[in-house]
Amino acid sequence: MKIAIASDHAGLRLKNILKKHFAEHEFIDVGTHTEDSCDYPDYALLAGEKVVSGEAEKGIVICGTGIGISIAANKVKGIRAALCFNEFMAEMSRKHNDANVLALGARVIGEDLAVRIAEVWLKTEFEGGRHEKRVIKIGKIES
Ligand code: RB5
Repeated sequence: MKIAIASDHAGLRLKNILKKHFAEHEFIDVGTHTEDSCDYPDYALLAGEKVVSGEAEKGIVICGTGIGISIAANKVKGIRAALCFNEFMAEMSRKHNDANVLALGARVIGEDLAVRIAEVWLKTEFEGGRHEKRVIKIGKIES
């Protein structure tokens, strides 16, 4: 799967860990690439654009808490970014919300847990059915 991945300086280490762990996937790494302090909205936008354009199927965005970068990613029309702290949230964000971006907080969860969350999130399909009309309603709020 082609995955757009982004972080700010606080999420850089976890971004690199995820890219290494999920080597079977193709990552479009839109940055940041250094530990210099930077602004998470810039990278949320770049990753979100890759997903809505279809260049990437899904996105993963990481900052210190995951809060800022998820808020920013959700401002990109067509993005449904879910900030997940455990595997259950990851599973539900795919099954019920059809989240197309996973947001992680590198200063909030351990690296092993982050990998497990991403594993669940990447393999779980949207259930559709009764959830579909709700996701469509989210899109209507945007327009
Ligand atoms: C950077 O210090 C930090 O504010 C950022 O990574 C993120 O946690 C914001 O939501």
